[in-house]
Amino acid sequence: MGCHAHQKLASIATSLDAKRLMAISLGTTRLIISSHPDTAKEILSGSSFSYRPIKESARLLMFERAIGFAPSGNYWRHLRRIAANHMFSPRRISCLESIRQHVANEMIEGVCREMNEKGFVEVKEILQKGSLHNVLVSVFGCDLGLIQGGELGLMVKEGYEIISEFNWADYFPLGFLDFRGVKRRCHKLATKVKDLVGRSIDERRRNGVYETQNDFLSLLLSLPKEEQISDEDMVAVLWEMVFRGTDTVAILLEWIMARMVLHQDIQAKARSEIDVVTGRNGPVRDSDIAKLPYLQSIVKEVLRLHPPGPLLSWARLATHDTHVDKHFIQAGTTAMVNMWSITHDPSIWTDPWAFRPERFIEEEVSIMGSDLRLAPFGSGRRVCPGKALGLVTVHLWLARLLQQFKWVQSVQPVDLSECLKLSLEMKKPLICHALSQ
Ligand code: HEM
Repeated sequence: MGCHAHQKLASIATSLDAKRLMAISLGTTRLIISSHPDTAKEILSGSSFSYRPIKESARLLMFERAIGFAPSGNYWRHLRRIAANHMFSPRRISCLESIRQHVANEMIEGVCREMNEKGFVEVKEILQKGSLHNVLVSVFGCDLGLIQGGELGLMVKEGYEIISEFNWADYFPLGFLDFRGVKRRCHKLATKVKDLVGRSIDERRRNGVYETQNDFLSLLLSLPKEEQISDEDMVAVLWEMVFRGTDTVAILLEWIMARMVLHQDIQAKARSEIDVVTGRNGPVRDSDIAKLPYLQSIVKEVLRLHPPGPLLSWARLATHDTHVDKHFIQAGTTAMVNMWSITHDPSIWTDPWAFRPERFIEEEVSIMGSDLRLAPFGSGRRVCPGKALGLVTVHLWLARLLQQFKWVQSVQPVDLSECLKLSLEMKKPLICHALSQ
């Protein structure tokens, strides 16, 4: 299906009148796909689909011991609870504002530097770098030590490449065969990650000052004895946070900036909303965001048109025989939700291809998982635990970038073509001009 699987599956479901549920098979894998809010809710919120089918590469890269792929039993619940209390709680998200502001300043400096040196801005690079820095500091703390120097960033990049690749072994029983060297590359990368992240854990423990620090690693090390997890599991969880937290935020912001360049009237309206709220007195703060409904509706509209996980990225697995929409579904069936198809469906959204943030001013739509017409973070027990942190970051950085610059087209026109890798990326990265305000 190449990099347009979400679009092709949507058009097959429409042409076969199978939006509510479609069944296909990929090799030995039975697959059902929902392109409708009702069946999507049954799949995502029902207890039958609370496991995820694990790809060979994800297993070899240790994700089975992290939140995303751990089977939904006691261990997974324990990890979710630790993450909810120590990584994603409102108190901790607000403690991290100074880091987000610091990274926003760095990104603004980066934009000015690129404009001075090249005369245009390659937005993706700046956002990826900022997002990685933000996640690394919140996960590993300020003394980045070994992590600095971009080593972990390169490993994340390599991990994305391997996991995005089609691996025959996920669909056919191939035994020891390793076409395309996926297993070999995974083993090599996992060894490097274990070594680097393992050394960071040892170092922090040797320093012994983690009780007073606020990063996720320190918080994991200071858990009461009965809640502690092994070092090996800690490596998996820390690695997952960096892996998941970096790309999603940067990719979403790149789409938003592309839309801002294309729709100057909407950009101007968002900027004047910011000016009214901040009075041009200083940088936007987290506490201002609640007073910026138009800015929030822009983010929602981009999540609708360009959801970073159009197929909700990680599928679900039926652990026992069940029914969806009265159809019998056998245990072991993989279930996917085509959120992209739902968010582009003319029977659900008026004028679905139009970029019109106002629709969310006219109608309040929750994007946190309760309304399956727009659930870019999934729904149910396995809903994205990083959604609040991701949104706070995206809102703040978008507001800061709009407050500082007017974003306009360069000689290279904005191209909205999509390419589905691990997330839904812009096929042609955004290149534009940023004019100081
Ligand atoms: C714009 C930002 C983000 C988007 C669009 C997004 C989207 C998603 C989606 C669609 C899922 C699958 C949900 C389901 O199966 O119902 C997911 C799961 C997950 N996300 Fe996010 N995510 C974002 C940010 C983050 C961040 C910042 C983190 C962590 C730092 C994170 C960590 C996770 C984890 C650990 C899971 C697995 C949850 C589980 O299986 O229990 N995400 N995300």
